[in-house]
Amino acid sequence: MRVLVTGHLGYLGGVLVPVLMGGGHEVVGMDSGLFADCLLGPAVADPGGHRIDIRDATEEQFRGVDAVVHLAALSNDPLGHLAPDVTYEINHHASVRLARLARAAGVRRFLYASTCSVYGAAGDELVTEDAVLRPVTPYAESKVRVEDDLRELADDHFSPVFLRNATAFGASPRQRVDIVLNNLVGHAMLTGSVRVLSDGTPWRPLVHVRDIAAAFLAALEAPRPAVHAAAFNVGMSSNNLTVAQIAERVVAAVPGSTLLITGENGPDPRSYRVDFSRIRDRLPAFCPRWSVGDGAEELYATYQAYGLTWADFHQRFTRLAWLTGLREAGRLAEDLRPAKFASAR
Ligand SMILES: NC(=O)c1ccc[n+]([C@@H]2O[C@H](COP(=O)([O-])OP(=O)(O)OC[C@H]3O[C@@H](n4cnc5c(N)ncnc54)[C@H](O)[C@@H]3O)[C@@H](O)[C@H]2O)c1
Repeated sequence: MRVLVTGHLGYLGGVLVPVLMGGGHEVVGMDSGLFADCLLGPAVADPGGHRIDIRDATEEQFRGVDAVVHLAALSNDPLGHLAPDVTYEINHHASVRLARLARAAGVRRFLYASTCSVYGAAGDELVTEDAVLRPVTPYAESKVRVEDDLRELADDHFSPVFLRNATAFGASPRQRVDIVLNNLVGHAMLTGSVRVLSDGTPWRPLVHVRDIAAAFLAALEAPRPAVHAAAFNVGMSSNNLTVAQIAERVVAAVPGSTLLITGENGPDPRSYRVDFSRIRDRLPAFCPRWSVGDGAEELYATYQAYGLTWADFHQRFTRLAWLTGLREAGRLAEDLRPAKFASAR
C-alpha cells in the first residue's frame, strides 16, 4: 500500500515509519519539521514527502495514496494550554480538512492517532471505547472533536479509524521526555531522584511506542469490516498503572535512584483505567509485548548510550520548551508555522 504519514518526523513517526516500510508499504511523509533537530542518537532514514504545514495541504498531495496515518498534532496537555486556539486550529480543524481532502482524492482508510486521555476524569472503573468521554484539557477535547467529525465522513469508500493510544513510552530516534515514563527515567538518571509531582494516585495506562506502531500496522492491514469507523484503545491491561506504580518501576530500573512523591501539583483530574479487549479481539495481529519495567530499562540504557544531558532533557526533548525557544528565536511564527512558511503565504 502507498501510505501517507503525517507527523512522520515526530516521536511516534520515527518508530512507525520503519515498521510500515518493513511491512512492505511505501511511505510518503507530511510534516513541517517542528522537531527535526530533536534527535537522540543516529538520524533515521527519511522516506521523503511533503515538508509542509498540514494546514496548507492540498487534495493533489493525496492522489494515489491508499491510506493515511494521521499523527501530526500539537501533542500533549501542556502544549494545548500554551496556545489553545492554535491547538484547535491544527489538531481539530486541519485534521478534519485533511480527512476531507483525503476522501475527495480517493483514499480509502484514514487512521487517526487519538488518545486515551479522551476519557479524562474517569475514576477507577475500566473504560471501554463506548464509555462517556470526559476530556479535561484542550488537547483531549480537540481529539474528541476530530473523532466526532471524522465519523460523519465514513461511507462505503472511506473508513476512518480511531486509535486511542495510551500514553507512550520507550526509545525513539526523535525522543520526547515530556511523557511520564520517559521523563521519570531521564530525571532519575540525571539527578538520582524519581520525582512525582502529583500525589501518585491517578491511573495512567502506558504503551510502548513500538507496540503503538504494531497497532497501526494491524489496523492498516485488517479487513475493512473489522475497523470501519471504529475506535480502539491501544495498550495492554498489565500496563494500567498508577503514577506511583510507574515511579516504582523506574526506581527498579535506574541504579541508585530513590522515590520522592512531592504532591506539589495537587490532585490531577486526569485518571483513567482502560479496557483493551476490543483491539485484542478484532485485531489479532496486534500482540503488545512491552511492560513498563522493560521499557524503563530500555530508556535508561538508551539515555546512557547517547549521553542525555540536563540541558537537552529540559529543552530539546521537551516539546513545549522547544517550541517556545523556536518562537523566541524567530524561527516559528505566532501560529506555530515555521517562519519561512508563514512569510511565504
Ligand atoms: N506520545 C504519546 O504519548 C501519544 C499518546 C496518544 C496519542 N498521541 C498522538 O500521536 C500523535 C503523534 O504524537 P508524537 O508523540 O509523535 O508527537 P510529536 O510532537 O513527537 O510529533 C508530532 C509531529 O507532528 C508535526 N506537526 C505538528 N503540527 C504540525 C503541523 N501544523 N503541520 C505539519 N506537521 C506538524 C511535528 O513537526 C512533529 O513531527 C499525535 O497526534 C498525538 O496526539 C501521542
